[in-house]
Amino acid sequence: MINPVNMWGLGSRRIELESDRYILHVDRVASTMDTARKLLSKGDRQVLAVAAGFQTKGRGRRGGAWVAPPDSCLLITYFLPPTPSATFDAQQISFAAGVAVAQAITSATDGEITPKLKWPNDVIVGNKKIAGVLIEIATGVEPDQIVPLVGIGINVNVPEFPADIADVATSIELETGLLCDVNSLEEIVRKNLLMLAEEGWQEVLSLWRSYDATTGIRYTMDHEGNRVEGIAVGISDSGALQLRVGDTILETVAATSSAG
Ligand code: BTN
Repeated sequence: MINPVNMWGLGSRRIELESDRYILHVDRVASTMDTARKLLSKGDRQVLAVAAGFQTKGRGRRGGAWVAPPDSCLLITYFLPPTPSATFDAQQISFAAGVAVAQAITSATDGEITPKLKWPNDVIVGNKKIAGVLIEIATGVEPDQIVPLVGIGINVNVPEFPADIADVATSIELETGLLCDVNSLEEIVRKNLLMLAEEGWQEVLSLWRSYDATTGIRYTMDHEGNRVEGIAVGISDSGALQLRVGDTILETVAATSSAG
């Protein structure tokens, strides 16, 4: 008989949690986002997250790739509780996840790293990215409900990056000179995320702002049919980016930082 856990990929195992939930860990998958969707479509309600040792098609925001060396990083997709599609707030979940990751890196490194957040949700140290967050939704699970999928990639035990991204990427190992236990880091991220996902928007926004390093960064955005460049001056009360373009302050939810 096929062990149902093994159908999800090479070397998969369940990590049982204190609750009646579990994390499915798979040595190698295309993307934990896709495996998460498959698990949901099979009706599995006990799984809390899908983690991978290696992804062959890891996804980043804006259709980009997320590449991480094998068995050295946190690559995970969490399922948040199903929520009515009408009340789902992607901005809130995204900010909550960014804060959860920034807090977790700070605490796992005993404050040796104090990352910042760059809108919309890059977790950075200096001007280099140490972690990223990808929010997707799964529909059709329950009528009129969606399941938020929170994909998190943290660069943990990576001693160096390829030359083409070495200027823009960093890792916990590079910043501290120390190896960090990925499972312990995951536990902190999980606890933070589940707690913050229950918080109201004002609390999440205020925490996010306490990590914010967006002001002064250059972004480009579409405005009246043109691509315009501006300098970030803040984050609005709804979580939108505020850009100074010439003499005007524009608000947008779809800007790209000029540095990537
Ligand atoms: C970003 O571009 O900043 C978001 C990166 C998100 C990467 C994580 S790794 C685990 C999960 N699975 C994926 O394919 N992507 C997310």
